[in-house]
Amino acid sequence: MGERFDVAHGCDTRADPHTGSPVDPALGAGNTETLGQNVAMTRIDGDRLLADLQTLRGFGATGTGVVRPTFSETDTAARRWLAERMTAAGLDATIDGVGNVYGRSRNPGPAVLIGSHTDTQPEGGWLDGAMGVIHGLEVARSLAEESATTGLAVDVASWADEEGTYASFLGSRSFVSELGPDDFDRQGPGGESVAAALDRCGYAQRSPARLDPARHRAYLESHIEQGPRLEDEGLQIGVVTAIVGIRSMTVSFVGQQNHAGTTPMARRRDAAAAMFRFGAAFGDRMAAVAGERSVWTIGEVHVHPGAQSIVPGRADLVVQFRDVDAEVLDRMQETVERLADETDRSTPVDVSVTTKSGVDPAPMDRATVDAVAEAAHAVAPGRWTRMPSAAGHDAQVLAPHLPSAMVFIPSIGGLSHDFGEDSDPADIVLGAEVMAAATVRILGGA
Ligand code: HGY
Ligand code: MN
Ligand code: MN
Repeated sequence: MGERFDVAHGCDTRADPHTGSPVDPALGAGNTETLGQNVAMTRIDGDRLLADLQTLRGFGATGTGVVRPTFSETDTAARRWLAERMTAAGLDATIDGVGNVYGRSRNPGPAVLIGSHTDTQPEGGWLDGAMGVIHGLEVARSLAEESATTGLAVDVASWADEEGTYASFLGSRSFVSELGPDDFDRQGPGGESVAAALDRCGYAQRSPARLDPARHRAYLESHIEQGPRLEDEGLQIGVVTAIVGIRSMTVSFVGQQNHAGTTPMARRRDAAAAMFRFGAAFGDRMAAVAGERSVWTIGEVHVHPGAQSIVPGRADLVVQFRDVDAEVLDRMQETVERLADETDRSTPVDVSVTTKSGVDPAPMDRATVDAVAEAAHAVAPGRWTRMPSAAGHDAQVLAPHLPSAMVFIPSIGGLSHDFGEDSDPADIVLGAEVMAAATVRILGGA
């Protein structure tokens, strides 16, 4: 496996081998004259790419956004359509035992694997995940159409449930053989388990697609940035150096449901009151232990039974926090556990904490990132930078198993996980051109 980036700072810390001075992280070691010279340019069919993205958008289209949660009707229909498009592109397409749509090139390896996801958040944007999958399809088609690159192998994947409607990164974790029996018990909408959903969708009896170390040389994923940095800096391409780790924890508050009028205040065991007490302290306590780029959210809250004349007997919230440094994540986790314990001891309500999900921070592979940087410099000189990812991606699941790297394009207004998510079509096409050039460079093509 190649060398790693400095995860904590998410950027290239090399010094120029000639002068010893720190290089501009955007340009990598060496000078600009050599960078990007020997990168073949592959023609991308931008109209075809954008047309497929608009068709995919139609599965679950809701205003300008998309509602296509994992294993829903819209999701499984989109998977069938994607498998058909892969077949039309000359790939051997399957939908595997966990719902991954996998298009395998008929060319012998070594192969570059390009993937992302087509499932969305409950209120999703049309590009989150979808762009990376259609970029992969377009790179596979474009390389096949040019005599100089038609022999190169590009496999394409849409990983199931990246967004965690049932189990975060279900598909990519299956691909690298990281799923355990508990994963199939995880529940999604209506309390349906992963196993029941796979059965309902007709996937359960199929064999899972698996990483083939003898075939796969690298994994590339392109994605919208989902944040403001590229737009703020007037840049079009991000070359990702590291991906944040994410942890989600459920904090449960159990009191006594009772009448909101007849129950004296001194005798109440109000679960929601305890939850709000925890929530009021949460932000300051996390800030006290956070790193430079740490983030934290309480995005999910439940109060039972949720009626104005009933003292709630039960309340739950989910805290999520992220950082590129595992030690910072540990400090934040300890803070959540300590605050829950303090709330338990200072209220008449029982408070408990359980870990809901987690994924480790992942540095990208240096040689693969350099290949992507070469491609970015060839395709978009002066309009790209190296940067860490504050969003989670399937690439962080693949990275420990296969040299991996990512390409970002700007998100308009930095908006994502919202119906208003959007990017400039020219940036969408440019991102595919960088992906194609990086793929050719990694496979040592023309
Ligand atoms: O939440 C994330 O970072 C990703 O978009 N699922
Ligand atoms: Mn997302
Ligand atoms: Mn995504």
